[in-house]
Amino acid sequence: MKVLIATQKPFSAAAVAGIKDIIVNAGHEFVALEKYPEQSDLVAAVADVDALIIRSDKVTAEVLDAAKNLKIVVRAGAGFDNVDLAAATSHNVVVMNTPGQNSNAVAELAIAMMIYMCRGQFTPATGSEIMGKTLGVQAFGNVGRLVGKKAEALGMKIMAIDPFIPAEKIKELGAEPAESVEDMYSKCDFISVHIPATPQTVKSLNYDLITKMPKGACLVNTARKEVVDEEGLAKALEDRQDLKYITDVAPDNYAELKEKFGARIFATPKKMGAQTAEANMNAGLAAANQIVDFFATGNTRFQVNK
Ligand code: 3PG
Repeated sequence: MKVLIATQKPFSAAAVAGIKDIIVNAGHEFVALEKYPEQSDLVAAVADVDALIIRSDKVTAEVLDAAKNLKIVVRAGAGFDNVDLAAATSHNVVVMNTPGQNSNAVAELAIAMMIYMCRGQFTPATGSEIMGKTLGVQAFGNVGRLVGKKAEALGMKIMAIDPFIPAEKIKELGAEPAESVEDMYSKCDFISVHIPATPQTVKSLNYDLITKMPKGACLVNTARKEVVDEEGLAKALEDRQDLKYITDVAPDNYAELKEKFGARIFATPKKMGAQTAEANMNAGLAAANQIVDFFATGNTRFQVNK
């Protein structure tokens, strides 16, 4: 089988070497397409491949139409909003993710972002500390739970909410369950966002919700830019001169927001949450192993388009 790794934002060389070893040792062919400038490069590269490993690369209906031999796509990471699942299913292509493999990297970034904002983006201005503050974790999956644990160890109080996890379970996992998303926003000094981008969540972080946050609060987004209503965010930052926003996924109107709100907003230049040597290795090797196992045994654990 021919396995293509297509990564606009490449994994480390060590992770790519490890992926290649797994693929080749299992008797498959390995090809790589990295830092490709155009989506058409991906469309051309998939023509004869049987399996595809991607990160945030866009697997659209056009890509799937062009990939006549494709049987499996593994998104080396958690979020799969970049894959057209309906088109994949109609082409009989199995889509998987690698849940949990890059969670620690993202969780560490979320903690770093809180401290960075508390300390005036590392300027000499008098800052504040996270110890004793309340953190609300929005979605208590792999990343959210790690953020909660790390923040607790740093002396924060943890609240959490997750539409798929009952309050009892959230309690068992060591956080105080919020009554509602609005309730959590109104009680927390920091909110760390870990919801996926779905039709239900897109633009759900809107003006009304953001302005529920108490004085001086900070919203931390290491999830997806699409979940934020950018107009609502701009209005919230305008009306509430005390609020702050830090994100690993720059909003489309970032230049305008930065100009207006200066140090109260910060976005990383390129999504970096999962960009560590460890996460590259964990997610990359997991993706390669899942593909090898799928071809050897038909294992579809982690399939997301069932
Ligand atoms: C994920 O969904 O796993 C993260 O957002 C990481 O995305 P990336 O692989 O594009 O860095």
